[in-house]
Amino acid sequence: MRVTIFESNEELDRQAADMIAQTVAKRPSAVLGLATGSTPVGIYKALIKQAAEQRLSFAGVTTYNLDEYVGLTPEHDQSYAYFMKQHLFSHLDIPSAQTNLPNGMADDLSAECARYDRMLERQPIDIQLLGIGHNGHIGFNEPAAELIGGTHIAELEAATLAANARFFEHEEQVPRQALTMGVGSILKARSILLVARGADKAPIIKQALSGPITTACPASLLQTHAHVTVLLDKEAGKDLIPDDTTLHLVYS
Ligand code: PGA
Repeated sequence: MRVTIFESNEELDRQAADMIAQTVAKRPSAVLGLATGSTPVGIYKALIKQAAEQRLSFAGVTTYNLDEYVGLTPEHDQSYAYFMKQHLFSHLDIPSAQTNLPNGMADDLSAECARYDRMLERQPIDIQLLGIGHNGHIGFNEPAAELIGGTHIAELEAATLAANARFFEHEEQVPRQALTMGVGSILKARSILLVARGADKAPIIKQALSGPITTACPASLLQTHAHVTVLLDKEAGKDLIPDDTTLHLVYS
């Protein structure tokens, strides 16, 4: 696994945006797997800047987001649909019909999960951007004895509810459920870009990249994928051992 540790977050953002922009430049009909949360915000800013500077069109691009809360409309300011519009889609020339998130307002949530998986099967993801939760979750795949492969309804863990409460007025307002791509759907992406920032993510990054592959740390399953790039700021990377032979550690 190639891991780059950056001195500055701006550099990290540029590098991540560059990888996404290059994917689109090479293949104008690229399929991008996207993420929400605080981790990708700077990356999206850098991507918008690069798209403008390079006159890179996203008109042929399709996107799939990892997850969406159950019960929030796309107009709700804490829905992931709203987040994506604010932070990325409204700044690019991508037609909204080509931007996909699971529909957390669907009457039949199981049918919605099946629909999302059928679409992903038809349009495999070229590059999947991922953050990581403090408990090792990717998307809303929380640590568990068993993980689910496809898109499914996830019950959010107490730790995740607490972490997400900062975005709501009260913790009780955080939806208890979400629809999320499963680890199987994530691992089907042709390439994966895992990003983490901050000292609070250092222990879980070490566990995910150098620890055992276990459903107790869903991100550890990324060790089984052949094309994962990890971009970390120096705080998130501080616990990695430079001579770990399973990692190709680069300092930038
Ligand atoms: P964060 O969340 O980017 O807000 O840290 C990441 C995640 O929980 O997957």
